[in-house]
Amino acid sequence: MNPFSLSFGKEPMNLISREKQKNEILEAFTSENPEFQVCMLTGVRGSGKTVMMTEISSEIKKDKNWIVTELNPERDMLKTWAAELSNRKDLFQIFKDAKINLSFLGFGIELDSEPPITDIVVALDRMLDQLTRKGKKIMVALDEAVSNQYVREFASQFQIYMRKNYNVFMLMTGLYENIYELQNEKTLTFLYRAPKFAMEPLNYKLVTKQYQKALGVSEEEASQMAEIVKGYPYAFQVLGYLCYKNKSSYENVMDEFEAYLGEYVYDKIWSEMSDNDREVIIALAKSESGRTGDVSKIADMSSGKFSVYRDRLLKKGLVKSEKYGHLELTLPGFREYAMERVVD
Ligand SMILES: Nc1ncnc2c1ncn2[C@@H]1O[C@H](COP(=O)(O)OP(=O)(O)O)[C@@H](O)[C@H]1O
Ligand SMILES: [Mg+2]
Repeated sequence: MNPFSLSFGKEPMNLISREKQKNEILEAFTSENPEFQVCMLTGVRGSGKTVMMTEISSEIKKDKNWIVTELNPERDMLKTWAAELSNRKDLFQIFKDAKINLSFLGFGIELDSEPPITDIVVALDRMLDQLTRKGKKIMVALDEAVSNQYVREFASQFQIYMRKNYNVFMLMTGLYENIYELQNEKTLTFLYRAPKFAMEPLNYKLVTKQYQKALGVSEEEASQMAEIVKGYPYAFQVLGYLCYKNKSSYENVMDEFEAYLGEYVYDKIWSEMSDNDREVIIALAKSESGRTGDVSKIADMSSGKFSVYRDRLLKKGLVKSEKYGHLELTLPGFREYAMERVVD
């Protein structure tokens, strides 16, 4: 079986660990005095947000005092959360002892002696209060957050539960632009202060080792492959997948590699960019030096306007600046991809 995987959102067999980022979040959440209770993973498509969220959730779930619920941003989140909590066998007794009657909401727990709770917000409040008293910690994992009605309503309620000192935690993933829109909602400014972790490139040495191991190629060849994928997780999988499938060296699969990236991610990324974002990317692709001054000249933008788009692209993770005053495209083959889209 091919050890590389092209499916999004699923933990691959050959996971390359990102210990530093993972542990930072794990430690903050699990410490005696949590440094933060909400945090966000941002990065372009294919940068490994969902996989990292799953890793962190699985790690946290190992502790029986933690209750982790994955919620879908396209559904009524408060309702799903309450339903999931009330359906858990290990919590049943806690809610029963606290005489929380959820029968009206259709969530099973029926107590003749108590009037049923008719409001979901109240129900959750009572449940979270009880769970907190019992020393439980309750985490919500929200993949692909967007600024829609469900998420806004949920986040604003979540803020209230936090203020009440309930043991609630939330780990979110999202594209930078969606997270940005969400935190700019007037009522959700607490999200502004929540730490945001931009997905970092996979470690080159570990990528090289994985290729050597999975494909049996030399260290030299494996490290050339690592240079090509530039630490971008989806590209790491695609290149490995194609080499394995074709039983061939990476040099023979480069066309297919680029076609895959284009079709599965870059087309989508490109279509979501604004015209000005594209101008800057194309200017950067054309520039020899990558110097900010040169790029803004090619883009024909004032330095004020240019810096707005540069900052946005940096935050989205499409561009990086490792050398002062210089820019670089982050994704492998994105320069060629952008050059093919130059219209004159
Ligand atoms: N740490 C990792 N090591 C190796 N491959 C990874 C890693 N994280 C993600 N991938 C791969 O990258 C691709 C995209 O991952 P995913 O988490 O779905 O990205 P995102 O949610 O940011 O779009 C998947 O094919 C996955 O197998
Ligand atoms: Mg994802």
